[in-house]
Amino acid sequence: MKALTWHGKHDIRCESVPDPEIQEGRDAIIRVTACAICGSDLHLYDGVMPDMHSGDIMGHETMGEVVEVGKDNAKLKVGDRVVVPFTISCGECFFCQRGFYSGCERSNPDRSKVTKLWGNSPAGLFGYSHLLGGYSGGQAEYLRIPYADVGPIKVPEGLSDEQVLFLSDIFPTGYMAADFCNIQPGDTIAVWGCGPVGQMAIRSAFLLGAERVLAVDTVPERLALAASAGALPLDFMEEDIYDRIMELTDGRGADACIDAVGTEAEASASWDSRWDRIKVATFMGTDRPHVLRQAIHCCRNFGTVSIVGVYGGFLDKIPMGSAINRGLTFRMAQTPVQHYLPVLMGRIERGEIDPSFVITHRATLDEGPELYKTFRDKQDGCIKVVMKP
Ligand SMILES: NC(=O)c1ccc[n+]([C@@H]2O[C@H](COP(=O)([O-])OP(=O)(O)OC[C@H]3O[C@@H](n4cnc5c(N)ncnc54)[C@H](O)[C@@H]3O)[C@@H](O)[C@H]2O)c1
Ligand SMILES: [Zn+2]
Ligand SMILES: [Zn+2]
Repeated sequence: MKALTWHGKHDIRCESVPDPEIQEGRDAIIRVTACAICGSDLHLYDGVMPDMHSGDIMGHETMGEVVEVGKDNAKLKVGDRVVVPFTISCGECFFCQRGFYSGCERSNPDRSKVTKLWGNSPAGLFGYSHLLGGYSGGQAEYLRIPYADVGPIKVPEGLSDEQVLFLSDIFPTGYMAADFCNIQPGDTIAVWGCGPVGQMAIRSAFLLGAERVLAVDTVPERLALAASAGALPLDFMEEDIYDRIMELTDGRGADACIDAVGTEAEASASWDSRWDRIKVATFMGTDRPHVLRQAIHCCRNFGTVSIVGVYGGFLDKIPMGSAINRGLTFRMAQTPVQHYLPVLMGRIERGEIDPSFVITHRATLDEGPELYKTFRDKQDGCIKVVMKP
């Protein structure tokens, strides 16, 4: 089959690889009908996520039609149309039982490596390095789904691939980011990053009752899309974000701040982001957490900082003095996707949101390598790429 494979920094290829096979009784195999490129894939593309191997199949936002089912899988049948969460979860362990699916303690077969780095292992992920299971991803014609009687959700009649594909990751992620903010009537929510995840967070914040959403980015079409949802766009290259947010909130700060940027933050001339770049370039640091620092400073006393942008290692110069003395709450996670699926499928079915609003580019797998670059460089108005193998 054809698949997009990783061969090093900025080297994604579309090539022929062996078809996946059933390995365990609960597995299923799907023929992929749609898959997408995520901002998290850019961390692999940019070479900031360790333990990728040459030839690894990329992709963790995938859906398709079931073509084969393992003998112990009572949930799926050949022909079912399913969306596949990016987190792989057994459904039975301590964490899965409590709904913390992205903390599954069984789905990462080689937990020791990541435990050295993070103290323990989260769930295995599709297409996301050998630290997290080394599972083949879904930017391919076929995908093997482990524990396929837990993760995949069947798609009701009448919904298109584009309407439901983002249930695999960015819609639950943006929704979780807003959910973490415990939004109350009258609240102002500030969102850093108007990429696909930020866009979902902005719309979810309104769905959950936010009075006002402030959307921070610098890419014009991304700010415009945020504005079309009713958010107030703030350009971090044009204005001082801290000053603006204070001015807009009577000097208090936003009720909650969402970091939907993560480790590869850009910044206008600021001392801390220059420092981050030097440290990362010289292997003295692991991340560029400029946005997280700013989100903490811009959050009101006893407000919430909700982090869904991904970080990898040991973050430098985080203003914990500000956070402890002003009573901030931190919430963060790789999304326990399965936990949110029933509610969000319902919202799509009732027409409360159509997540396909974010798609700008539709392509084949062959065009994938070029589109990684287009998406990373935010060229050609690119906000979200969907590929139909
Ligand atoms: N927690 C999860 O489960 C989960 C799931 C999916 C994605 N993510 C993470 O969410 C993040 C965003 O993903 P995406 O697909 O939207 O990616 P993206 O790269 O398209 O979007 C990031 C956006 O942040 C903007 N940005 C950069 N510096 C900024 C700054 N200083 N202030 C404000 N905005 C800034 C960029 O211009 C860009 O529009 C990534 O880190 C990704 O890994 C997390
Ligand atoms: Zn993702
Ligand atoms: Zn589990």
